[in-house]
Amino acid sequence: MTQVTLKPEDINLNDPEIFERNQAHQVFDYLRNNEPIHWNPEGERNVGYWNITKYEDVMFISRNPELFISSKGITSFYPKDESELDEQMSGNGKMLITMDPPRHVRLRRLVNKGFTPRAVNAMEDHIREITNQVLDDVAKKGRCDFVLDVASQLPLAVICGMMGLEKKDWPYMFELTNKVLGQGDPEYQTDAPEELRGTPEGARIAGQMGTMQMFGFFAQQLQDRKEHRKDDLISLLVDSEVDGQHLTDEDILWFCFLLILAGNETTRNAISGGLLALSEHPDQRQQLQNDMSMLPTAIEEILRWVSPVTHMARVATQDVEIRGTTIKEGQRVVMWYPSVNRDEDIFPNPHTFDITRQPNDHLAFGIGEHFCLGAGFARLELKVMFEELFRRFPDIEKDGEPERLRSTFIGGIKHMPVKFTPEA
Ligand code: HEM
Repeated sequence: MTQVTLKPEDINLNDPEIFERNQAHQVFDYLRNNEPIHWNPEGERNVGYWNITKYEDVMFISRNPELFISSKGITSFYPKDESELDEQMSGNGKMLITMDPPRHVRLRRLVNKGFTPRAVNAMEDHIREITNQVLDDVAKKGRCDFVLDVASQLPLAVICGMMGLEKKDWPYMFELTNKVLGQGDPEYQTDAPEELRGTPEGARIAGQMGTMQMFGFFAQQLQDRKEHRKDDLISLLVDSEVDGQHLTDEDILWFCFLLILAGNETTRNAISGGLLALSEHPDQRQQLQNDMSMLPTAIEEILRWVSPVTHMARVATQDVEIRGTTIKEGQRVVMWYPSVNRDEDIFPNPHTFDITRQPNDHLAFGIGEHFCLGAGFARLELKVMFEELFRRFPDIEKDGEPERLRSTFIGGIKHMPVKFTPEA
């Protein structure tokens, strides 16, 4: 990691290259210790915001959804010129994750059924079967791109399966997820003219096209389920009611949009980031492979270490003072999970990767009203993947440097070459 010299006035977390170059922890360490509530300057197109880097402050903000709302957007980006906000394309206030109480509570109660511990446990055999199919496809090769061939395939299959999507459509969902959540990365800006790739305009085009294509796809799926119900989440939503009223088509489409994004991109990065962390800490990896009963605590440490979702934003509904700084009504706060998960006031030796760490109350899944709905599925997918991966390929190792995603929102790895002894 290259050392960067920091001055508070130079810190600008709008810059995705900080994350792509894996330098964010240097910035976060500095902020936690010097300016835990730090004003991030506005960008060319977006408003300024408060960077929140301490654990207790993220707990406070997340647990007070009436003081800090989600319906004005959950990312650090918000346009200075509000006329830039395309009402139809903006999901603000329309998805579970961007809704405020009381509607959030009612909708969440409705969908919770599909995500209870019982529902999750019932999927274990199925998840193991998918995992082994994924591993079968690379078993004889001895090398692969771990992200494309393995880490992305399990979460994609699980969420697409829950939504009743046909297998032929899964690669398309992978492509669209990358466009929407990886819109800042030139690799996914395939809809933008060559000269715009790598620019904010290239990102805007990728995000917009990805969103429109996703809506086009799910509109067809919705039509199909209205005509022929299946045993899947989309059919469940068609028949559901909140406050005695059926969900509208728009409600259902935004829910599909959220699930497909949340369900595959995050878990993919926890799996690949987990293998990377274990490869970079061979003593920890050896301990785990000698005794796989340590997997539950190892998974929590992977989640803390990787923090696959980098931030969530909220907007203050009134002036609120935190650590002597006044957050003014209408201002944006951005909660940085990789930072709070290495807060030295909470985690002893926070920069040590320790698979036996306990307690480990990381906030990788958020906390409070919006706590990740899919946390149980993500944990189960991680467990089954590492059990099967180390059973079948105990010597799997990195075979080149990983390529990171250019994003301030998702802590992603796009490619990671690996090698292992092929199965006979
Ligand atoms: C390691 C994998 C995952 C991570 C790190 C992660 C992280 C998060 C975070 C940080 C939030 C927002 C919390 C907040 O705003 O306070 C969230 C919300 C959410 N996640 Fe996940 N997630 C993961 C996997 C999944 C999966 C597999 C699914 C679906 C199957 C999913 C579905 C959702 C949904 C629907 C929400 C919105 C909940 C609400 O607003 O009430 N996530 N997740």
